[in-house]
Amino acid sequence: MMEEFAPDRIVEPLLVEQAVPKRRGYLFAPLDVPQAAPLDDVFARNSVARLPEASELDTVRHFSKLSTMAYGVDYGFYPLGSCTMKYNPKVNEVTASMEGFTDIHPLQDEDSLQGCLALMYRTLKDLSELLGMKWGSLQACAGAHGEYTGLKIIRTYFLHHNEMGRNRILIPVSAHGTNPASANMNGFEVQEVATDERGLVDLNDLESKLDDTVAGIMLTNPNTLGLFEKDIRKIASMVHEAGGLLYYDGANFNALMGMARPGDMGFDVVHLNLHKTFSTPHGGGGPGSGPVLVKKELVPFIPQPDIVYHEDSGKYGFKWNEETSCGKVSGFWGNFLVVVRAFTYILSMGSDGLKAASRHAVLNANYMQALLKKEYSVPYDVICKHEFVLSLSNLKERTSVSALDIAKGLIDFGYHPPTMYFPMIVHEALMFEPTETESKDTLDGICKAMLQLKDMAEKDGGWLHDSPHHAVIGRVDEVRAAKNPVVRY
Ligand SMILES: Cc1ncc(COP(=O)(O)O)c(C=O)c1O
Repeated sequence: MMEEFAPDRIVEPLLVEQAVPKRRGYLFAPLDVPQAAPLDDVFARNSVARLPEASELDTVRHFSKLSTMAYGVDYGFYPLGSCTMKYNPKVNEVTASMEGFTDIHPLQDEDSLQGCLALMYRTLKDLSELLGMKWGSLQACAGAHGEYTGLKIIRTYFLHHNEMGRNRILIPVSAHGTNPASANMNGFEVQEVATDERGLVDLNDLESKLDDTVAGIMLTNPNTLGLFEKDIRKIASMVHEAGGLLYYDGANFNALMGMARPGDMGFDVVHLNLHKTFSTPHGGGGPGSGPVLVKKELVPFIPQPDIVYHEDSGKYGFKWNEETSCGKVSGFWGNFLVVVRAFTYILSMGSDGLKAASRHAVLNANYMQALLKKEYSVPYDVICKHEFVLSLSNLKERTSVSALDIAKGLIDFGYHPPTMYFPMIVHEALMFEPTETESKDTLDGICKAMLQLKDMAEKDGGWLHDSPHHAVIGRVDEVRAAKNPVVRY
């Protein structure tokens, strides 16, 4: 019996698996009012619902245990790069739980939604100001959805101007996989642009790919190596001269918030990830929000309905039937409560606070990079922005301990692993993004763990090949999970 007991890996069964027949978590009082008429047959179920037969205490314990098995940013350090897993201040939750925001219905008439419409309008105004854009839409529900929407706007713009031949989108090799996917879903052909020895867009390669079939270029700046594209103004004029547009993937805006504006760099269309830069919850598949903001020339093509303010009546409303609009990209108005959280963040930080957040994010990344580069190799060894990338290929060659082994080893030290094997141009990559809210103590702690793991790799990599040793789930077959996902219980 004791042999079966493995305290390090206690897996909590599902509540239905723990069910005991006839066990209940509730007791109804005897009926003391007349029985209602039975449900019409079309609405009545014809089999017994398969609900967990559990007591209230069973249920509370089950969910309490599960909550201790999950790792989130409220639990510990979470340095996923290009993902900005930043702390979500609790004041955001306070406003997002207010009845005036939660007890509304999307089909309510505009007059009874003035506060909500004002909030959406003001959020769009503030985001436009921060990005150097004219106006936008809050409909998209994720970063990738924002990319899809932004490229749909570009597509519609060129169709409107009878430039049907512009069907190529240029994307650097270091880009996130959602970029080519979004371009492809909009019917564009994707062409890669090389990265030069500095880790930046290779201008000669870009030049050779520009002609009148180019619709635009998609860039994130700083790029996914955490490096600022210094030639961005030059890139913008090259692409504009060829008649194309510049798309800004705002996943990395945490490095620039309040300090520099994509609009001033020459970008025409931007998406932001409110669930990254603007401190709304992230992970677990949503809900997210990917607002899209555009320059003046592209405003007629944003999704409808637009949100407008009528100066004469002092009221807010929706504007439909814009013939040039790229259409609707989401049910109703997007993830409204996520927007409430982001607006709270913007107001509570103020412009000085947003600037300070970016500065600290960049400082923290550089501090960590400086500590780790004593023992690990940094392929692009310059001052970084909000994130940086290590390459463990030398370590792997020498010791057979891979980036994956070190990342899994970090779990045993109580840290969430960084991003692994991305961007793909760096071999055995580990990408760290500490964000602004982490203290020096926390950064010192993870760096110490990283140095200790390196030492362990040099002496005896065996233990690391099997790590994590103290997590609920150890190594999983990631290839099988990706190729043969079982998504039903
Ligand atoms: C650079 C970059 N672009 C786009 C995305 C897509 O954002 P989302 O996960 O919200 O769809 C990510 C996600 O991590 C990213 O890192």
